[in-house]
Amino acid sequence: MKTVAIIQARMGSTRLRGKVLMDLGGHPVLEWCVRAARAAPGVDEVWVATSTLPADDAITSWCRDHDVDFWRGSETDVLDRFWQCALAAFPEYDPPPQAFILRLTGDCPFLDPQVIGGVVRLLKAEPYLGVADADYRYCSNVSPRTYPDGLDVEGFTLATLGWAHKHATRQIDRECVTTFIERNRSRFPAETLINPIPGMQDERWVLDTGDDLQVCTLIAQEWPWEKGPPSMLDILGIYDRRPTMRDINKHHPMNERYFDALAEEPIYARSYERSQAQFEKAREIIPLAAQTFSKSYLQYPQPSPLFLSHGQGALVWDIDGNEYVDLVSALLPNILGSRDADVDQAVRKQLAAGISFSLATELEAKLAETLCRLIPCAEMVRFGKTGTDVTTAAVRLARAFTGRDKILICGGYHGWADWSVERNLGVPKDVSTLTFRIPFGSRGETNSAQAKEFAAVIVEPESDPDYLQYLRDWCTQHGALLIFDEVVTGFRLDLGGAQKLYGVTPDLATFGKAMANGMPLSALVGRRNIMKRMEPPDNIFFSGTMFGETLSLAAAIATIKKLERDDIIQKLWWVGSHLAAKAKALVADYSLRDVITFSGQPPFWRVHFRDDQIAALFRKEMIASGTLIAASHNICAAHGPSEITRVLRSYDHALGVIRDAIDNNNIAERLAGATVGPMVRAS
Ligand SMILES: Cc1ncc(COP(=O)(O)O)c(C=O)c1O
Repeated sequence: MKTVAIIQARMGSTRLRGKVLMDLGGHPVLEWCVRAARAAPGVDEVWVATSTLPADDAITSWCRDHDVDFWRGSETDVLDRFWQCALAAFPEYDPPPQAFILRLTGDCPFLDPQVIGGVVRLLKAEPYLGVADADYRYCSNVSPRTYPDGLDVEGFTLATLGWAHKHATRQIDRECVTTFIERNRSRFPAETLINPIPGMQDERWVLDTGDDLQVCTLIAQEWPWEKGPPSMLDILGIYDRRPTMRDINKHHPMNERYFDALAEEPIYARSYERSQAQFEKAREIIPLAAQTFSKSYLQYPQPSPLFLSHGQGALVWDIDGNEYVDLVSALLPNILGSRDADVDQAVRKQLAAGISFSLATELEAKLAETLCRLIPCAEMVRFGKTGTDVTTAAVRLARAFTGRDKILICGGYHGWADWSVERNLGVPKDVSTLTFRIPFGSRGETNSAQAKEFAAVIVEPESDPDYLQYLRDWCTQHGALLIFDEVVTGFRLDLGGAQKLYGVTPDLATFGKAMANGMPLSALVGRRNIMKRMEPPDNIFFSGTMFGETLSLAAAIATIKKLERDDIIQKLWWVGSHLAAKAKALVADYSLRDVITFSGQPPFWRVHFRDDQIAALFRKEMIASGTLIAASHNICAAHGPSEITRVLRSYDHALGVIRDAIDNNNIAERLAGATVGPMVRAS
């Protein structure tokens, strides 16, 4: 068993030419890296992989002078260079089952030997050794990033690298060495070393720009070379003494070039073999092969991806390793994006205290206080787990409060419970007939003879404040409760929900989806005199074993704090408006205005299609070109310029195909039998 650290280094960095041999405290940057790698527990050999370009002669002569093994290979096919270097380091390649490689980069002078050693430990951890695919694995401290940029360590087996070398075809994967491995998580199980010190993921200790050089030089001045490689805590100590150092380079975004490269990458052909195989397997034991109707194969024209393995920000990867800009956002919960550092940290912190308890916790009142502060109608709060939990509780409360049974739904979807569900096979008629349904915006029917029989009017307050006010007045006049179902609009259109945005206050309101950035949590809020009826003597019953589960509560507190602190919702409006305007313009360019239309509000912009075939073709082509979309733009905070560029490129592609299919009257042929079922939401 041998572990080889390979440091990637070249002189030709576009931003800071020659950086790897720049002087830091009397020693070249590369020497800092090599020294740290050599000091790392578990590392047996350290190699440098550089290119064959003449400019890199300086690197190899430095290596020779300092007795460091090196390999020279392609400048652009870095994956090949890396692989060849690994083969050179393992001349006995047969391959030995436990040949471990670490990837380090020559622009990280302050690599921490203990952190490198941590990744080595993880790579060799016991649990792997018994599993069938023990040869394949990927460990790092960057996925997700919790360490400063500049302490990056990635580790994998030689077999993993070999597989990537053989199968990676995208240029970006040949240039970036590990992107192929990282995005094929289903094939290469991943483990991540998490920084025990929270909040360090935005620190920048890497050497990539002139500003970074200034910071690195200051650190090197503070850290005498003779003391050996500094640890992360040593560097933190230097920052404690010189906190303003952070201001020098903090404005440089991370991984900018990678994201730019993704935005410019041509559309590539995707295949979904693993998804298809998994589908066959899952379908045997899971009806629909998914837990959520809207995430099932019924919604996605086949072939298309059916299973995702991981996400980061607004990007997701399927189990075949294909990457998408995610415009579904997990059906709207991911308001900040996947793996948000602050929310995940809050979850980890709570995890350390426990998940579920035998009595209530203080977190409940803490979050309830926040909701009461932000949401106009919220005087009291109860938590559930799903949107259905709380819309159903609201309806039960309304029925008990008014002593009436009938419910009027003004459009929209409100969950899968008997009282509301439109696909009502299995629902007793006696229950269904108590629910009346009118389209959103419809007024005439509300004036029916039954007006005084309704316990509640429930509506999704997505738009049209005049209509919402009309419903408010109507409910007041007829003694019904007005329920705003803000499961979608809450924490998306406004921090106080649509009721705050439009200035119309309901009696009760329900929240879910975005409030905990993906953790399962919902809330029923409302007027004190109604909510109090959940206590004796009435005891209107609403109770669940999992309702006070603490990871979700902690996640919600962190999510709402961040939404408020960073004014995220305004950003959603801005990004959503920009995307909608550009998408609309493209629809007009392709003369498809009578085929594809839009409605809603920018953070949640719905796309409508002339018919189901067009809907299927749109979805198929958007997905094939790298955008996962259902029928709306579910904007999250992580949709940045690069993601929006990629979505618009998908639009351009998909609309071109649709235009062509209409002109040539071959939509069915293009679909090759693929269709999508009706969405769960009728409107
Ligand atoms: C407006 C609205 N209310 C309620 C629900 C039901 O929420 P859940 O699926 O979490 O039960 C949904 C789900 O899409 C919804 O959009």
